[in-house]
Amino acid sequence: MNTNTILVFALFLFAIVVLPNCAEKPSCDKPTYTMAVDSELTLLMREMFLYYEDIKENIVEGSLTEDIKIFTDIHKAVATTPEKTTSPLYQAMATNYTQAVKDLNKTKDSKKDLFNLMVDNCMSCHQQMCPGPMVRIKKLYIK
Ligand code: HEC
Repeated sequence: MNTNTILVFALFLFAIVVLPNCAEKPSCDKPTYTMAVDSELTLLMREMFLYYEDIKENIVEGSLTEDIKIFTDIHKAVATTPEKTTSPLYQAMATNYTQAVKDLNKTKDSKKDLFNLMVDNCMSCHQQMCPGPMVRIKKLYIK
């Protein structure tokens, strides 16, 4: 191999190894290691989403008998980027969410509007910290 060939080969390596990492970041953090394990917070969020999606119909019909679950672990579950959830902004928005569910449990009237207010709280934290899932979360709104 002459020097030119080595140079071309080095550039080629640079292009396939280094450049892809400079590509635009996804809207929400993806772990940089392969065989990624989902973070505690990701698993919790999936559970939250499925739970609220599940009870949405009961809210519409007014047929819910038990208190709505408050996922207080939102304050301490470890995120893909752990610093994210220790920030005062995150913690404040997490409190807004838990407060919204408490209000939801207190009302004796139709829970529809307060349910939508809770979804607003999901959306506003996501707007700030993790916009990716907003398309999905939006589907929780009761029309
Ligand atoms: C205080 C901020 C905050 C609130 C409130 C919040 N989320 Fe999240 N959510 C996050 C963060 C941060 C992540 C990314 C988790 C990670 O990367 O570890 C996330 C991830 C998600 C995901 C993606 C999970 C996956 O499969 O990757 C969904 C879905 C989700 N949240 C739904 C909801 C719903 C529904 C609500 C309201 C009931 C909600 N979130 C409230 C911050 C929040």
